[in-house]
Formats: sequence, C-alpha cells, structure tokens
Amino acid sequence: MPKLVRRNGHYALFVNGAPYLMLGAQVNNSSAWPAMLPEVWPVMEELHANTVEMPIYWEQFESVQGRFDDSVLKALLRGARAHQVHLVLLWFGTWKNGSGHYTPRFIKLNETQAPHVVNAQGKKVDSLSPYSTFAMHADARAFADLMGDLKRLDPQHTVIMVQVENETGAYGTDRDYSPAAQKLFDGPVPEKLLAAMHKAPGTWAQVFGADANEYFQAWSIARYVNFVAAAGKAVNPLPLYVNAALPDPFHALYPGGYDSGGPMPMNIRIWKAAAPSIDLLAPDIYMPDYRRYTKELDLYDRPDNAMFVPETGNKGLYARYFFAALGHGAIGFSPFGMDATGYVNYPLGARKIDAKTVAPFGLNYRIFEPMDRVIAKLNFEGKVQAVSEDPAVHTQTLHFGKWDVVVEYGMPQFGNGMKPKGNQPPDGGAMVAQLGPNEFLVTAVHARVDFKVADAASGLQRQFVEVQQGQYAGSQWHFKRIWNGDQTDYGLNFTSGVQVLKVTLATY
Ligand code: DGJ
Repeated sequence: MPKLVRRNGHYALFVNGAPYLMLGAQVNNSSAWPAMLPEVWPVMEELHANTVEMPIYWEQFESVQGRFDDSVLKALLRGARAHQVHLVLLWFGTWKNGSGHYTPRFIKLNETQAPHVVNAQGKKVDSLSPYSTFAMHADARAFADLMGDLKRLDPQHTVIMVQVENETGAYGTDRDYSPAAQKLFDGPVPEKLLAAMHKAPGTWAQVFGADANEYFQAWSIARYVNFVAAAGKAVNPLPLYVNAALPDPFHALYPGGYDSGGPMPMNIRIWKAAAPSIDLLAPDIYMPDYRRYTKELDLYDRPDNAMFVPETGNKGLYARYFFAALGHGAIGFSPFGMDATGYVNYPLGARKIDAKTVAPFGLNYRIFEPMDRVIAKLNFEGKVQAVSEDPAVHTQTLHFGKWDVVVEYGMPQFGNGMKPKGNQPPDGGAMVAQLGPNEFLVTAVHARVDFKVADAASGLQRQFVEVQQGQYAGSQWHFKRIWNGDQTDYGLNFTSGVQVLKVTLATY
C-alpha cells in the first residue's frame, strides 16, 4: 500500500515498500477523457515522467445521482499501465479553482440544497457553500465510491495518491456571509481549533480578530473536505492531499482577491487541525521569479508537512525549480498542462505544446528517472541538498560538514579565475547528495560545481581522488568513464546533457 512516512523529520512516499520520487506531470483540465488520451501519453513519454496526474470529474463519475460510472477510471488505469507510469488522481468535486463547475447537475441545478457562497454585499459568488450538508454527503459518497473502485480495480497500486478537490476556496469574498454561515461565525470557535491554536474560548471575531473571516472560511472548507477524505480513506487508505492556489507571499491580501479559505500558507495550521484525514498540503506554484517561488517552498516545508509541488508552470524557466523542490525534500514535482490536446497556457498564441516547452522538464526527468529510487531514499535520509539558479546571485554554496559545495552559473567549461555571470536566461540547477564522508553523488544542469574545504583556516585543499561518470539502474551504479583533465581542472561543468557523477574527495 502506498504510504507517506515521516522519519527523523524527513518524509518519503513509499511505493512498493520503498521511497519513491514522483517525476510528475499534470494534464490539462479537459484531457482525462478516453478520447483524449492518445494525445497525452506521447508527451509523457517525451518528458520521461514516471507519474501522471489526471483529474476524475464528479460530473462524469456520477452524472445521475447514485449511479457511479467507472468507465473513464478504467481507461486511465489501462493507459497508465500500458505506458508504465503511476497515476495521481485529482478529485474534481465540490471545488475546482474555488468554483463548483465540476459538480453534477443534481448539485449544480439544486440551489436550495447546494447554495452558493454569499459575499458581504449579499451577492452570490461562483463557489458552493461549505455549509451544504447535502453537497457534502453527496461528495463524500461519490468519493468513497471512487476509492472503492480503486481498491477493486487497482490491487497493484497504479494509483499512488489522490488529491481531494482542487484549489478549494472562494474568489470574490473572504468568507460566506449567508445567514447560516453568519450564525456560525457569531457562535463559539470549535474547541478542537482553540486547542490547536492555543486560544481561549470566544466567538470567531473575539478569538481571531482581523484573521477571523479567513480562518472561519478555512475551517469551514477544511472540515467539509475532511468529511469527504475520511469517507474515502475508510474504504481505501491511499495517501490523500489537497492543493492550494497561492496569493503573492510578499503582498497584503485584499478580501475577494484570492482563493479564500484554501490550504494557503496562512491557513496551514487551521487545515491541519480540521482535516486529519489529509496527509499533506501542497502549493501550486505559478510564480516564475526566484524569490516568490522559493518563499512558497519555504512556507510548505514544515515538520508537519511533506513537500510536494503538484502543479507548477510549464514555461521553461520553471524546470529549474525541480532542484529547489528536491532541496526542500520534495516527494514529487509536476508541471501543469503537459499534453498535446490543443490547449496551452504557455507559450501565448501556441496551438499545441511544443518540443521546446517539454525539453527542460524532460532533461530533468531523463537525469533522474534511472535513479529516482536512489534519490528518494537519500532525501528521506536527509542527505540531499539542491538549488535552483537565483538570477540575483550567481554563486550558491551548500554545506556538508567539512565540505562546502560551490555552485556557479554562467561559467565557461574551460578556465579558472572568472567571475560567474549567471546564465541568460537563469536556467541552472544542481543537486548534491552525500554518500560517505568524502563521497558525493552530483548532478546539475547549466552549472559549474566544485568542492572546497569548509575550514579555510586549515590550509587544506581539495583533491579529486576520482570522479566517475555513470548511471544508476535501480540501486546499481553503472560506471561509464572517469572525468579527469579538462573535465575536472575547472570544476565539474554540467551542460544540458544527462551527466551524473560520483565524486571521491581527499585533502592535501
Ligand atoms: C491551477 C488549477 O489547479 C489547474 O486545474 C488549472 O486551472 C491551472 N491553475 C491553470 O491552468
């Protein structure tokens, strides 16, 4: 059974009994239909993805109330197995980017039992109220049926994790102001939440002041989602997660301008308290600049949360953040919109995803695919450090006890003594894993990597005893050649090739 395991503050997703690294990709929203799959798989092959994220649409799964249709699910399982990839299923239920657009007609057209959220001015917004018991029970029933189908149809665990809902929350208001919601808002904060937040009893406004609206909305949505998740988990205990639409981490929010109540950074503690059936909260990162991207990684990299990037932009410069995610202990990473069905977020005006868009993500996955298990295990053991190029500084230093690792960007392969200028554009990244006191596994793209003795005062200098280039197959290292001469005299220079090195060091 796939499971999320925490040990010594590090997380791993165990698949077939060992840590697994999801080299993922998500399809476009309307691509998980059997007729579209022939335009999905070739892109996944080109990417070398080992895991594909596919939505399951509630409107399809239960188009008639109480009648569940597993035909699409079966097509996804068949396709994934034929292409030897794992699946992460995304349950597009009550929430999809805040809206209820994927609900079946018996919800969509039933405003009496499944009302919309109402904003402070009394206007309905495009989101379903988290106080609809009818919708919550219906969603939970459908989700439990889906999880039951998986138990029956997927004993080999092609599906390794399931996302519950998609970017929950509501745009256009900071909370629900309907009479039913208002009554709860004016009532006491639930004890469970008080305990989790170390607060004394009172109404939401009394306890949380300026944060009351946001926390109330988060609590309301999270307990609904937990109800759905728990119903599914009771049938089939696969790992479950939720994903967040993120506001700008460096700007104050204004009510209505973001996906309120979702599992965003400021709501993590609320979600953890309200939704114990959810194994992890994950950021969807569509912020190309380095400061914002890495800030989001910092915010979700917590002792109580496993790092997973279930969605990120597919513009080429996002590819380098695969390294930063690994450096935060990620169990997986997944660019969004990776199929040739004809819809593209990027580049503007394009009619289909092109080879240029796929290439930088494909390079990462070609490097890591043969050693995905090795890296997942090393990361679980806390032995991996990895960085993405920051255009503001062209050198980054990693610290491994007596060894420092210096990563430089924008250096020629030949020659010493130059100052790194940075890559134009900044597309570099590097990963170093410690295998022994003086032995490291190193890979990178568009970067020069070198080692130096951390204690500069010691006068000791680094010596490459041996630098092997090779490749893992499973846990087995296959030697290809030794790098020496020009290949090591100017540091270890990584280009846009698949280059994995085992480095043995000494001092002199
Ligand atoms: C985030 C959502 O989770 C996705 O389903 C998709 O709508 C992207 N945004 C944008 O394409």
